[in-house]
Amino acid sequence: METLTTPNEATVDQDFMPIMGTDYTEFYVSNAKQAAHFYKSAFGFKSLAYAGLETGLKDRQSYVVVQDKIRLVFTSPLHSGTEMGEHIDKHGDGVKVIALWVEDATYAYEEAVKRGAESYFAPKTEKDAHGEVVRSGIYTYGETVHIFVERKNYEGAFLPGYRKWESHYSPEPVGLKYVDHMVGNVELGAMNKWVKWYEDVLGFKQILSFDDKDISTEYTALMSKVMSNGNGRIKFPINEPAAGLKKSQIDEYIDFYEGAGVQHVAVATDDIVHTVTELRNRGIEFITVPTTYYDVLEERVGKIDEPIDKLKDLGILVDRDDEGYLLQIFTKTLQARPTMFFEIIQRKGATSFGKGNFKALFEAIEREQELRGTL
Ligand code: FE2
Repeated sequence: METLTTPNEATVDQDFMPIMGTDYTEFYVSNAKQAAHFYKSAFGFKSLAYAGLETGLKDRQSYVVVQDKIRLVFTSPLHSGTEMGEHIDKHGDGVKVIALWVEDATYAYEEAVKRGAESYFAPKTEKDAHGEVVRSGIYTYGETVHIFVERKNYEGAFLPGYRKWESHYSPEPVGLKYVDHMVGNVELGAMNKWVKWYEDVLGFKQILSFDDKDISTEYTALMSKVMSNGNGRIKFPINEPAAGLKKSQIDEYIDFYEGAGVQHVAVATDDIVHTVTELRNRGIEFITVPTTYYDVLEERVGKIDEPIDKLKDLGILVDRDDEGYLLQIFTKTLQARPTMFFEIIQRKGATSFGKGNFKALFEAIEREQELRGTL
């Protein structure tokens, strides 16, 4: 069953690991140049920064794109036999780095390591004409890492080592604002280990949990716990598969990603009807539920501001909790392997994750799995 815990005000003030927000999300991909173009043209991101041979790098190339507070980095190796190349060979394209914006990246690293985190790299200061940035990193689930970014003394485009990426191609943004949450899929039996890790290492609190009674269809099931930092700006649901008659979407992810990793990046908008209309016009495909979902929608969630026929046209889902309601939709997976996807979410008071949509949504995902022969 679903259990909800509200973060306690006292613990918020005493957060030993103050995190101001998501700094950037870095993807290791086989073709960074084309991936960046896709996120610009389809998702309305703008060119921000670039690093590669022209900036003195010998082994890799990175393109950084931005939309409001969301920064995505796409990085590819420039020759064979690299660690990054092995990562891409094993996992396919996917999220490598969830970077966290902190006041003090040295302190964050020392606290995290003291509390049991495995080091990815020790604090280092990078400088250029625009100032300096301190970064440090720790491993989380799978081969995914968190990098702490301290940028209070920096005024450049992105990070030292990057130059501004000027482009004559600049599609209109689609209204994406910030990263609302980022979900990790972990192996069967590993969820509680990672819940404890986020509690111990980063001082997060579990704010929600779902078990297989909440999240099950005729065939598959999964369990999920939502971890949050004190100020609520960082929310990491962690999923693990539960036993079902057939293979769950989490099992499919873990098979194709060959391990634990980031399942979806949820990005917030203030106008989901506009955002999803734009994304569809630019070729993004979404998971859609049967239209009967909308026949009982108002009965289930009550009065909402948005016209239901519009939501039905676009396939947008709605759920309500004690504090308000939310609108959400999920893209189909966005790379060759059926692994990572994006969620578009608009919150109108609700702070939850759309539990009322799980069943319809997971049945829709199973229809996609069926087509792939992976159910
Ligand atoms: Fe989500």
